[in-house]
Amino acid sequence: MQTLTQLRILGLFDARVPRYTSYPTAPQFTARVGKGHVSDWLEAIPSGGAVSVYVHVPFCRRLCWFCACRTQGTKTAEPVGAYVETLKQELALVKARLPEGVEIEHLHWGGGTPTLLEPEMISDLAGAIFEMAPLAPGAQFSVEIDPTEVDGPRLDALAAAGLNRASIGVQDFDPMIQEVIGRPQSYEITREAVDMLRERGIGSLNVDLLYGLPHQTEARISDSVNKVISLGPDRIALFGYAHVPWMSKRQQLIPTEALPSPEARFELYSTARDLFVDGGFEEIGIDHFAKPEDGLAIAHRNGTMHRNFQGYTEDRSGVLIPIGASAIGRFPQGYAQNEPATSKYQERVRAGELPIAKGHVFTGDDLLRGRIIEKLLCDFRADLRAIAAEQAVAPEVAIAMVDGLEAVLPGTTTLEDGVLTILEDSRPLARIIARYFDAYEMPATGHSQAV
Ligand SMILES: C[S@@+](CC[C@H](N)C(=O)[O-])C[C@H]1O[C@@H](n2cnc3c(N)ncnc32)[C@H](O)[C@@H]1O
Ligand code: SF4
Repeated sequence: MQTLTQLRILGLFDARVPRYTSYPTAPQFTARVGKGHVSDWLEAIPSGGAVSVYVHVPFCRRLCWFCACRTQGTKTAEPVGAYVETLKQELALVKARLPEGVEIEHLHWGGGTPTLLEPEMISDLAGAIFEMAPLAPGAQFSVEIDPTEVDGPRLDALAAAGLNRASIGVQDFDPMIQEVIGRPQSYEITREAVDMLRERGIGSLNVDLLYGLPHQTEARISDSVNKVISLGPDRIALFGYAHVPWMSKRQQLIPTEALPSPEARFELYSTARDLFVDGGFEEIGIDHFAKPEDGLAIAHRNGTMHRNFQGYTEDRSGVLIPIGASAIGRFPQGYAQNEPATSKYQERVRAGELPIAKGHVFTGDDLLRGRIIEKLLCDFRADLRAIAAEQAVAPEVAIAMVDGLEAVLPGTTTLEDGVLTILEDSRPLARIIARYFDAYEMPATGHSQAV
């Protein structure tokens, strides 16, 4: 049994480790990958194949102090309209390279705040996406929603475009915490957004909640969790607040002295977890919860869940096409990221180029290690023989990667018949254990706390 003391000794409360939404992680991307690679990778998609598409909208009407996302403030629709025009041009550039008959299985609009788009812009953008490739039957179309930045006409436009899942940002309902993190948002306004979505038949709801916020206590997070449960979501992302003021300047407004200690963060997560589990949610991986009938819970039980830049997903397609400034895509051959700065992104698209800034071409070793890490974070176990067979390498190669793990992180895993399992009470260490399989140098800063 791992006690808090043992978890501390094993590094849980000190380590800064990647969240491993990709392997290699984004800090390893280099400018060696450019538009030529992505042009070839798009052309290599089998005709009639299924792809996923991620569209990034880097604008917000309000700039919440806690937020580490790449976004910029705007009070007017003008820059947003110009940006949508650029997105349409980028979609046409991608379409020119896509083989016949490709369909979209998963479409996600993230940000920033995609619901900042005017209703006509929403319809226009959706039309350009479906012109590039239509939605496959049964496809999932999800959008990140700030409940304070949405209304009937915009939801009508999204529903007409085929939206069937909404991801709603809550973070915490406590008014004092909201004030300190610069994100006022009443329960009532959140409830209203949920009701408006349901009235339009958009019943699949995901809620984002944070633990580790300033002044958060077990009583406060319990109250927020109960309020979230009362909204009837089918999926929850319970992320640890990442305090990275050197990357996100706004976070300098957050009072560091009011942040909970790593040990307190661990207790906050445990408190919220127990409430979600008592409320009928299944715990999924390191930071998600889902109702048993939800697609993610089903994929989790079937061992078919994946991890990508959006976190856990049922998405099985091997291609994620990046659209918009800073968007990251994944192809069987490697990762590619668009220009992070909106101005540079627009400049390149307007010049008729795919706006790829950097990326990474997979080696066989990357694919093997990446799959082990993905399986450990999805299922807390990795069948090394099966993974080796999938990657067409000898099982001994994968099994040898475990050598030395027991010496570094004793008593946290078992290896039996080629199956590496993270013991239940060591699951909080999953990212630290995953790091053991990471062959790249860690950057000194940039990663979030292990708990
Ligand atoms: C890209 S944001 C978009 C959400 C949408 N604009 C809203 O305000 O509801 C998606 C999620 O990222 C998470 N997030 C943002 N900053 C974070 C941080 N510093 N640490 C952990 N999660 C963070 C939040 O939970 C947020 O809901
Ligand atoms: S939380 Fe959402 S609304 Fe707030 S700054 Fe981040 S992306 Fe924008």
